[in-house]
Amino acid sequence: MTFPIQRMRRMRRSENLRQLVSETQLSPKDLVQPLFIVEGEGVCEPVVSMPGVSRYSVDCAVDEAQRLFDLGILGVILFGIPKEKDAVGSGADAQDGIVQRAASALKASLPDLIVMTDVCLCEYTDHGHCGVLDGEEVLNDETLERLASTAVSHARAGADIVAPSDMMDGRVAAIRKALDDNGFELIPILSYAAKYASGFYGPFRDAAESTPSFGDRRSYQMDPPNRREAISEMCLDLEEGADMLMVKPAVAYLDILSDAREAFDVPLAAYHVSGEYAMVHAAAERGWIDGDRVMLETLISIKRAGADFIITYAAGAIAEKLA
Ligand code: PBG
Repeated sequence: MTFPIQRMRRMRRSENLRQLVSETQLSPKDLVQPLFIVEGEGVCEPVVSMPGVSRYSVDCAVDEAQRLFDLGILGVILFGIPKEKDAVGSGADAQDGIVQRAASALKASLPDLIVMTDVCLCEYTDHGHCGVLDGEEVLNDETLERLASTAVSHARAGADIVAPSDMMDGRVAAIRKALDDNGFELIPILSYAAKYASGFYGPFRDAAESTPSFGDRRSYQMDPPNRREAISEMCLDLEEGADMLMVKPAVAYLDILSDAREAFDVPLAAYHVSGEYAMVHAAAERGWIDGDRVMLETLISIKRAGADFIITYAAGAIAEKLA
């Protein structure tokens, strides 16, 4: 059957008809808001390269999380910016560390909020790499113990989900074992399984003060040209015990997300990263695009490609729009 019998425009004629046949829905419950936590009290400092995003002290993070929760956002993911950094990232697994204090304060005030934590060393090391070093080499196996201990400290503080983002080999297995050994067998692991060495992390590194002091992350994060390798990474993480998988960045890697959706039945997350967020705002500020519209379209495209939920700096703003 072809034209004039077939007319695709019939079902596009009104907003309600379009709604009726809409294949993809976006709701606040699909969105997770990252929160940057800093020391101090009463702190809410805007991140210049990420309009609408601020760094909060623990008390202000609780207020912000309450606001997000009231908008229908079910989860946040925490990133800590410690006062002091050292070679092994001692702040990462300190039980009184910044993320640990934030997680317990959030769970105390908002027990139903899903608190996820980013498990990595880069915000806590003075060299800014995601693992411990030997000279300029980022050591894999020696880093696993630090990551496992960090994940356990987050769980102990009340985190509901731990999310390793370091890209060391074997980290999911190491974290699973450490969680189980410490009585946290019910804490799920959301693995940043296919995480690429990306230029889109620029604004995040300003916000989290985690730019490597030398070199880059290409020896541990994935190489952007590789597609099949992402499936290998994800298979390995599932074998090691990951409960959920993540693709990061999101928009520039929708093919990876779509492959992952085809290949796996586990919950799939996508991280709409800082640079992807900042670009929309930068263009909107110049009046070159309609920022709200493009942000919504971006998030819908990530869901359409296969994500079950999206970590995005736009979570709160979009939830306000959807309300
Ligand atoms: C930590 C981490 C990074 C991001 C999330 N977790 C930075 C990096 O790998 O350099 C980036 C998030 C963003 O750009 O929004 N390893």
